[in-house]
Amino acid sequence: MSVALYATSTPMRMSRRTFARVVAASAAATVAARVRLSFDVVPRLAGQEVALKDLVPRGWLIGAAINQNQSDGRDTVAVDLITRQFNTISPENLLKFQSLHPEPDRFTFDAADRYVAFGRDRGMAVIGHNLVWHSQTPRWVWDGPDGALADRATMLARMRTHIMTVVGRYQDRIRGWDVVNEALNEDGTLRDSPWRRGIGDDYIARAFEFAHAADPNAELYYNDYNLATRSEKRAGAIRIVKDLQQRGIRIDAVGEQGHWRLNTPTSAELDQAITDLRTTGLTVMITELDVNLLPQAGTPARGQPPSPESNPYANGLPDEMQQALARYYADAFRVLLKHRDGMSRVTFWGVSDGDSWLNRGRTNYPLLWDRQRHPKPAFDRVVAVLAGQ
Ligand code: XIL
Repeated sequence: MSVALYATSTPMRMSRRTFARVVAASAAATVAARVRLSFDVVPRLAGQEVALKDLVPRGWLIGAAINQNQSDGRDTVAVDLITRQFNTISPENLLKFQSLHPEPDRFTFDAADRYVAFGRDRGMAVIGHNLVWHSQTPRWVWDGPDGALADRATMLARMRTHIMTVVGRYQDRIRGWDVVNEALNEDGTLRDSPWRRGIGDDYIARAFEFAHAADPNAELYYNDYNLATRSEKRAGAIRIVKDLQQRGIRIDAVGEQGHWRLNTPTSAELDQAITDLRTTGLTVMITELDVNLLPQAGTPARGQPPSPESNPYANGLPDEMQQALARYYADAFRVLLKHRDGMSRVTFWGVSDGDSWLNRGRTNYPLLWDRQRHPKPAFDRVVAVLAGQ
């Protein structure tokens, strides 16, 4: 027997085993609907929706980056969706250096506290993002006298104060931290960030040491982008990990951000990337997953309208693109499942298309839920892959 599964797009057919998994998962969860099981077969489940968190392999975290409208509870539709679907959250902007520590002697924790409470109240794994980065960090952190760069001791002291205060505040409440974000150039050499120029190459090791001292139980991650598409950059990430390991410093996972495009990385590239990163012995996380469908160049200048060529789907996504996105997501999740024991988390960078940072004046479609917060064909395909494992 097989049972038709009515998805947002084309109806799919499921094997009995898959069907049983979906039913079990649905029954176990607070569920809502889009993958709708036919009413006459399973009346109790009609109109309910499967949850990704109930379908992922045991031990995996699956989540989304959330914004302040969500962590403050104003965006109630999204809050509902996040609560049902995910078992982990990341802060899209709220825990970045500039959000928490705008001036040397002033920390601003209110919104961050509410973000942490949002996750704790729901029994989710709360992620911290991030401690040391060249972006979204206020100038004072790196400034020395007369416009020069601060000296090593000064900059290290500032880094230490920031990390001890922030990580210490959320001790035992934040599961793990992106300690250092985007330290690499595309060729795998260390980026010439103000942190590195001020402190030296060991700024990375020091950041991890401070984070560990502030919360010995927290997991610590190195996070970067293009690790799946650029083997030289990936080799650089592996060097960072091995250096920390040789120094005896804690590191728990490597994050590939996962800001992907259709067919980039390919399944083969993603497979190879995870295999390579796993040689460190760490688990791999996809920490900021989204799939950009827009042309590469074309972000309009602030306040300017985008050119029509740079914004081809302003009036909607053609069905063939919708299906291509769904297939790409399905292929990617198949590879992630192949590495199920080596993966510990998948986090989307945003909940629905309307929330995504990839719009920036254009109309993008990178996530699993559309602007009306309805699940897209990509959601159905990911569900089918997870349920069929
Ligand atoms: C982005 C946010 O999504 C935007 O809202 C913000 O304006 C810029 O930063 N890599 C990261 C994330 O590690 O912190 C970035 O988030 C996306 C790229």
